[in-house]
Amino acid sequence: MSITNFGSASSGVRAVTPKVTFQTLQEKKQAGRPITALTAYDYATARLVDESGVDLILVGDSLAMVVMGHESTLPVTMDEMLHHTRAVRRAVNRALVVADMPYGSYHVSVTEGVANAARFLKEAGAAAVKIEGGASRCELVERLTEAEIPIVCHLGLTPQAVHRMGGYKVQGKTLAAAEELARDARMLEAAGASTIVLEGMPRELAAIITSQLHIPTIGIGAGPDCDGQILVFHDLVNLSFSRPAKFVRQYADAAALFRNAIEGYVHDVEERSFPDESESYHLSKEVTDALKPPAAKARLLAKT
Ligand code: KIV
Repeated sequence: MSITNFGSASSGVRAVTPKVTFQTLQEKKQAGRPITALTAYDYATARLVDESGVDLILVGDSLAMVVMGHESTLPVTMDEMLHHTRAVRRAVNRALVVADMPYGSYHVSVTEGVANAARFLKEAGAAAVKIEGGASRCELVERLTEAEIPIVCHLGLTPQAVHRMGGYKVQGKTLAAAEELARDARMLEAAGASTIVLEGMPRELAAIITSQLHIPTIGIGAGPDCDGQILVFHDLVNLSFSRPAKFVRQYADAAALFRNAIEGYVHDVEERSFPDESESYHLSKEVTDALKPPAAKARLLAKT
């Protein structure tokens, strides 16, 4: 097995394409080519996202809400995040797979944060981890870098801080708050971050941060001037069961598509039109006749 970046054909029939790395993202920033990113949480969607040419797949802790039905991202556990990261990793051939570190997995101590981050690379095959927060995360970012773990940082509206923020509110609107976020971004870059997600902040601030950093920024609700964009997959296809946020553009109505399919199935089963003859397996006439009375009864009597 090669450890160099020539791509690998793990599933035989699928095309061998060069794998996306952080160097690829860096080159895209330098060339002014937008980075594409989406979340995915399972094999089927990750496979579609990867085959559609998306650069970065985030196994986001948003899975707590859109997959597991929790009210916030806080309840999802390390084991659940590892489980979903493994499923995504099995599907992905090209994209950079980043695993979100769940709330509590890096908040107690730096040592515990490094140990938990290493599990995503070692046990689930992720290429990097994502953590939320500003300057207070610099020590962790340095230690992760020393441990050869690439880090995506997440600034602005950070959902794991929902209670401190008093709700999901746009951040960095005052001069002081904007200066603090810009300073945090520079400090995280200096500490070793590979990429920074900018969420829920004014477009102008995201543009300034993006122009001040050498590493790429990926925006969500942060305007069009970031080096890339990310959305939650379920928002993109209308599977979130909630009113979409201002920054979400829906590209499909999967809820309507799936509802229609499920209602059609229920109708056909209730009408006994599913399954039909062509959807059934068949016995030969000889075996069928032998199973029916009187042949079956005669066979039974012969045995006793
Ligand atoms: O968990 C997630 O999906 C995220 C994205 C919104 C960036 O953190």
